Amino acid sequence: MLRRMNVAPPPTALITGAASGIGAAFARLLAADGYRLILVDREPLPSPSDGEPIQADLTEPGDLARIEERCRSGVDLLINNAGFGHPTRFLDTPIEAEVTMARLHMEAVLRLTHAGLPSMLERGSGGVVNTASLLGFLPSSTYSASKSWVINFSQATARAARPHGVTVMALCPGFTRTGFHDSARMDMSKIPGPLWMSPDAVAAKALRDFRRRKSLSVPGWHNKLIAAVARTLPPTFTSRLLATTDMREPAR
Ligand SMILES: NC(=O)c1ccc[n+]([C@@H]2O[C@H](COP(=O)([O-])OP(=O)(O)OC[C@H]3O[C@@H](n4cnc5c(N)ncnc54)[C@H](OP(=O)(O)O)[C@@H]3O)[C@@H](O)[C@H]2O)c1
Repeated sequence: MLRRMNVAPPPTALITGAASGIGAAFARLLAADGYRLILVDREPLPSPSDGEPIQADLTEPGDLARIEERCRSGVDLLINNAGFGHPTRFLDTPIEAEVTMARLHMEAVLRLTHAGLPSMLERGSGGVVNTASLLGFLPSSTYSASKSWVINFSQATARAARPHGVTVMALCPGFTRTGFHDSARMDMSKIPGPLWMSPDAVAAKALRDFRRRKSLSVPGWHNKLIAAVARTLPPTFTSRLLATTDMREPAR
């Protein structure tokens, strides 16, 4: 007679913005770690070998509600990673585009974390990774302001979740070679090569920090140094400095 074996189901990871860049790198690493993947993007996604692709625009209330429901039904790891940059400065950017960014970088992160955390807290395991940015430490744009919110929100939530065995972490990548800058029509040709990281290196370092239960991950020594310095400088000084190095289109 065959003995029935109690085999635990694989852990589930839901990743937003999983079609390319850092999100796709997370998907590759977590698949290799045996995770069942729920991949979310507004782009059509290939079906992962174990998991499901969901096409959803997280700035559309109906689509966001569908993904919230999926999070509420229980995932072990939630990676809020979808994001984009504006090609133009604040007053040259249509307000609808600014609101869309606020919806994706803040409302979607807020709602999905709120939906996903309760079942993690009940189980006493799992966690949330919210992709912010190194720019979140610097007063440079509405993009950086939204990423600053992600850092602040994640660290506050991390404090409340940690005693229950659940990790919440803000990931702050620096320059990463993805389609991000081309999509935002930014000319990055002046950024020195050594400042760039690959999306695979960023995702690997983020997952290592997540396993170490950190609430903040800044991949790369050069980025750690920039973050440390940025946090000590007066915001009036850094915002003036950043205005001289802005890579977006100036006002016409
Ligand atoms: N690359 C960098 O240097 C860098 C540095 C710091 C932080 N980050 C952050 O890292 C995260 C990942 O960016 P990435 O560099 O990997 O860029 P990416 O390759 O452009 O990936 C972002 C993904 O998010 C998706 N997305 C955008 N808006 C969406 C929406 N409304 N609903 C669902 N999915 C949406 C994009 O789809 P579409 O292709 O259709 O737009 C894309 O697949 C972002 O949060 C970004 O802010 C990037």
